[in-house]
Amino acid sequence: MDEEKLFFLREPWKFQNTRSKRASLDGDLGFNTRSLHSGFDPLKDVNEFRSFVPPIVQSMTYPYESFEKFPDYIYGRSKTPTSSVLEKRLAALEEGEGCVTAASGSQALFNLLFTIARRGDNVVTSLNTFGEGYKQAATIFPERCEVEFRFVDDFANPKAWESMIDERTKLVWIETPSNPCLLVTDIAALAQVAHQHGVPLMVDNTTATAALQKPLELGADIVLLSLTKFMCGNATVLGGAVIGPEDLVEDIRWNTTEFVGAILQPFEAWLMLQYLETLSLRMEKHSENAQQIAEFLNDHPKVNLVNYPGLPEHPQYELAQRQMKSSGGLLSFVVGDGMKGAANLMNSLKLITHAVTFGTSRTICMHPRTITHEHMTQPERDKAGIDDGLIRLSVGLENVEDIITDLDQALAKL
Ligand SMILES: Cc1ncc(COP(=O)(O)O)c(C=O)c1O
Repeated sequence: MDEEKLFFLREPWKFQNTRSKRASLDGDLGFNTRSLHSGFDPLKDVNEFRSFVPPIVQSMTYPYESFEKFPDYIYGRSKTPTSSVLEKRLAALEEGEGCVTAASGSQALFNLLFTIARRGDNVVTSLNTFGEGYKQAATIFPERCEVEFRFVDDFANPKAWESMIDERTKLVWIETPSNPCLLVTDIAALAQVAHQHGVPLMVDNTTATAALQKPLELGADIVLLSLTKFMCGNATVLGGAVIGPEDLVEDIRWNTTEFVGAILQPFEAWLMLQYLETLSLRMEKHSENAQQIAEFLNDHPKVNLVNYPGLPEHPQYELAQRQMKSSGGLLSFVVGDGMKGAANLMNSLKLITHAVTFGTSRTICMHPRTITHEHMTQPERDKAGIDDGLIRLSVGLENVEDIITDLDQALAKL
């Protein structure tokens, strides 16, 4: 391709194996303080009216002061002032250098993979990832871009990851705790393995959020987030983000958001800023309720298995205790009689809603086998633990006794 056109593609991002600078300006403030203040000073930023709340700047174009002087924001396909406030806040919460938001978590993943990997490259991951992530890895990227995805079976063993890495590996991608089986992967150990081979580690932090787990502090290089889930907390916003080194973030912004425009819109960014103010309080309560429900289900004779990192029976319990502040609001459990048992239980629930998302203040259940992981082959589902009787439960902020009463009456009908 001629030089002039190549300019538009920029130099591909190169991973520098030096610990990236952390979000410097707010690093000393506590997490709750950052979730309220980072990225916005009402006396200075985006704000000639000095509004206490960050304003929604609902404009998709920004006039030039003169022929020569470019404005900071030019056109809404790449960024807007409100999304910039959110990006600074997310970077501060994850303690990363920079952040770029996207129209969904799946879009953020796509943008990252598209920016990092070229034809003939590969990405090392496992089957413990969310449904759309798996679909991108198993279909779109190999078929359309000739990027190979290598799935590690023995995911708890760092050597198994290492054996899949070669000179064309551009990324190691883990999701921990994973959706829907809540498997926990050792972030610090995998960062070490990836870095020995000059490869960055990306952690999908959607299920835990920065309130409970700090991947960058543990040695990872990039964080992926669906903002749609616990970050939002009430299923009113679809959004995603990548947090990581500033040069990677700008590469993603240029190659995908700027050219394609799947950005988080100003109103959604503004809503997210309101919801983040209570993130840590919500996550504490989600964890507290989920712990009690996991214990209840674990003792119930009609439940065959409970996946929750806060139970001592969980295979990575010790690691989860070390790596996470508390165990989060997501769990899954298996009832007998496969699909029929799951259907009977879910149809008997009265308070708990059957819906496709998680992280909401209201408790939600979902059947992964038929809804999010239906496209996997049966051997893949067996490896990933997607049993026909598996039900994912996103534990909400209701009084925990009421959630337990609902589960109890539904289990009694099996
Ligand atoms: C762990 C995880 N990451 C990312 C995503 C993608 O998020 P979104 O639904 O915002 O595209 C999901 C969605 O379920 C998820 O569970």
